[in-house]
Amino acid sequence: MTFNRKIKIAPSILAADFADFGAECRAIEAQGCDWVHVDVMDGHFVPNITFGPATCAAIRPHIKGVMDVHLMIAPVDPYIEAFAAAGADVISAHLEAGPHIHRTLQAIRGAGCKAGLAINPGTPVEALDYLLDMVDLVCVMTVNPGFGGQKFIHSQVSKVAKLRAMIGDRPVHIEIDGGVTADTAPLVAAAGADVLVAGSAVFKGGSVANSAPYGANIRAIRAAAEAAL
Ligand code: DX5
Ligand code: ZN
Repeated sequence: MTFNRKIKIAPSILAADFADFGAECRAIEAQGCDWVHVDVMDGHFVPNITFGPATCAAIRPHIKGVMDVHLMIAPVDPYIEAFAAAGADVISAHLEAGPHIHRTLQAIRGAGCKAGLAINPGTPVEALDYLLDMVDLVCVMTVNPGFGGQKFIHSQVSKVAKLRAMIGDRPVHIEIDGGVTADTAPLVAAAGADVLVAGSAVFKGGSVANSAPYGANIRAIRAAAEAAL
């Protein structure tokens, strides 16, 4: 993974066919996505359950590029090794998931992965003041985590701009997760985001058997974001 600030589209397989993750990952990559975003939920940190490290390991061979694993679980630390062994390139943990995020970020890098730090809509960017040198990515949640298909929370756009200024020259990605569409992508791209996660907006209208709409959706989000730069 070489660092750059070009717009990257990361479809969330939360909106894919859960019975066919391998084919769905191959389809979105063939249709031009940059990263594959994998949402892990535990029914405890968030009110929904998806899957764990075994599923991540199973889909890994079907992803050529970056596997971006978003952990919405608490606790995080006991599972880091398992997600690293499953082949995650990026592991993001939530600031709100426990009292020792500093240790968690050290452990993620220690496991050989890029360290991501995700923050909920109610969490201020100032909470990141002493963490920015330990992270490779900050994931700004633009919905409350737990479900796909929710409405983008507009108050988060100014948070992204503040975060971009705080990051300065550090090689830290800003990822946006939740409610990203061709309408909201320009707002966050202009504010400084470079990784755009999109679930429903990428998978809508398509399927493994008919994946051309995935490509059209990816291109529409990317074009709208790039036009805002
Ligand atoms: C929400 C997940 C997101 C979600 C995005 O908890 O972290 O990745 O799947 O879905 P959309 O793009 O539909 O809001
Ligand atoms: Zn996510």
